[in-house]
Amino acid sequence: MSSEKINIFDTTLRDGEQVPGCKLRKEQKLAVAEQLDFFGVDIIEAGFPISSPGDFEAVQAIAALVKNATVCGLSRAVMKDIEVAGEAVMGAKRPRIHTGIGTSDNHIKFKLNTTREDILERAVAAVKYAKSFVEDVEFYAEDAGRTDPEFLARVCEAVIKAGATVLNIPDTTGYCLPHEYGDKIAYLRDNVKGIHKATLSTHCHNDLGMATANSIAGVENGARQVECTINGIGERAGNTSLEEAVMIIKQRFGGQYHTNITTPLLKSMSILVAETMGMPVQANKAIVGANAFAHSSGIHQDGVIKHRETYEIINPADVGVDQSSIVLTARSGRAALAYRFKEIGHHLTKDELDVAYVHFLDLADRQKEVIDTDLEVLYHEKIYSMI
Ligand code: KIV
Ligand code: ZN
Repeated sequence: MSSEKINIFDTTLRDGEQVPGCKLRKEQKLAVAEQLDFFGVDIIEAGFPISSPGDFEAVQAIAALVKNATVCGLSRAVMKDIEVAGEAVMGAKRPRIHTGIGTSDNHIKFKLNTTREDILERAVAAVKYAKSFVEDVEFYAEDAGRTDPEFLARVCEAVIKAGATVLNIPDTTGYCLPHEYGDKIAYLRDNVKGIHKATLSTHCHNDLGMATANSIAGVENGARQVECTINGIGERAGNTSLEEAVMIIKQRFGGQYHTNITTPLLKSMSILVAETMGMPVQANKAIVGANAFAHSSGIHQDGVIKHRETYEIINPADVGVDQSSIVLTARSGRAALAYRFKEIGHHLTKDELDVAYVHFLDLADRQKEVIDTDLEVLYHEKIYSMI
């Protein structure tokens, strides 16, 4: 069986940039977009052009700059929004309009104060209008995670007929469990007439910490596009993290699915976005966090030094991290201490290591971490005289 391509739709510059404090200037957006393109992202959601003149200009500039990826602009199912999004992405090599409307009863009743039939009509009209600007039109059924599957299927069928090329099934509120989200995608795959003409897309939020798991469940059940952001930034608790989704596909679904992402650029992409947006990455973040390849307990350190795979399922080089690190704390053992001394050029004998270890523990109990300069001092004050 040949491996199927999963398209990566990056919304760092739209859903990610909505986060308070993450707003970027046009030049910063261009720098991120250029790297995303180089990195192998298939679709860049560059912004929400109707939202402000600045965002419109940024989307337009990104459309002109990007060489390979599709450039997408968001709009509501509102004619003026669609027109402005169409104008903003027009200069792209591969332009896309992403339009949509709420489909859950909650959204229909409380947000839009209307009926299911009206939503169906507005969805179809929006897609038809977007088709008058671009060929590639993605439709989002906002709050699809809480939408009745039968109604969702009706909406999907109608917008495919109207010309939608991609169907985005957002779990807008991060409500679904992975099996529920997977079942929803499978239901659409099996029950929507004409589904073969469109690509099913996941767009999952992380309110219950399940965004990545839900996206992968979507892929396993027929979705062929994953919407995600670098470092998982996005509204509230964020979106599916690009680095997690891509590495799960690579590590666990190797022969079955693949993406176009150059994974050794993951770490530098994460740093670029964290620094540009002023949004630091938590140390224990999967794949790109500072501790993702750091080992600090004696048992783990001993295992990793003997054979890296004892405690690591990813080769750090695959995600752009130089090497695993052995962090020296009061929980570290002799093997780690000897290893770190060796790294800075001191090969200790067993007796020297015994002496060094006693002094090391004394120091480690007083400070959080023992670093190379501490080891140098320890070596010259306590070990050198033994030689
Ligand atoms: O979470 C969501 O539903 C969205 C849509 C606008 C795609 O971000
Ligand atoms: Zn979203």
